[in-house]
Amino acid sequence: MKRGFFALIAAAALVCTGCAGSGAGAPSLDEVFVSRRSIRAYEAGRTISEAEVRELLTATQNAPSWANQQPSKYYVAIGEEKRNAVLELIGGNKSRVINAPVMIVSTFETGKSGFFRGQQVDAEGNLWGAYDNGLSNAYLILKARAMGFDTLIMGMRMADELRQLFDIPENEVILAVIALGYRDQEPKMPVHRPLDEIARFF
Ligand SMILES: Cc1cc2nc3c(=O)[nH]c(=O)nc-3n(C[C@H](O)[C@H](O)[C@H](O)COP(=O)(O)O)c2cc1C
Repeated sequence: MKRGFFALIAAAALVCTGCAGSGAGAPSLDEVFVSRRSIRAYEAGRTISEAEVRELLTATQNAPSWANQQPSKYYVAIGEEKRNAVLELIGGNKSRVINAPVMIVSTFETGKSGFFRGQQVDAEGNLWGAYDNGLSNAYLILKARAMGFDTLIMGMRMADELRQLFDIPENEVILAVIALGYRDQEPKMPVHRPLDEIARFF
């Protein structure tokens, strides 16, 4: 019964694949959660404007970060030359995102989150920067879906070459490359672990 109900919600949300992010008919947060999936085939010939990417990245600025350090940085390959160069630096992901018009490299500045006045304040240190970057990227992919776009986060990437390509300073850790485009597949809902396996109530 529960499974059937979930399938119905998922189907309704997936129908809204082209939902715009504002005005009447905007998807609810839960619809965005369900219809956002990792997309590994994109429509060819579609473009996304710089203004749209700016709107997307502006949304990430609402993400919380350690002491408001905002360590996340983004390098946006929106021109054809840079986009093609990024495609060569993501290994086997290339064929999955070859038609996505925008590639976004996400990094975080070290020595910010997890630090106070230059001193590391707990054992985790720069792990907090990665934490903050992940939060920021979560906002990015959800906002993208709310705007009618699709994404693929790619951890499989060549960090040294990306650093050269975008002239990324050494004090930034290069984490994911995120493809942005329009889905050309209906993704399957991945299997999720039972809630009681990941959460305990006391
Ligand atoms: C940090 C991270 C790295 C990932 N790297 C890749 C990747 O290199 N290639 C890929 O196809 N998917 C990659 N994924 C996507 C995951 O496989 C995907 O999120 C997971 O299977 C759950 O599917 P869903 O995003 O549709 O819910 C990555 C996801 C995350 C969060």
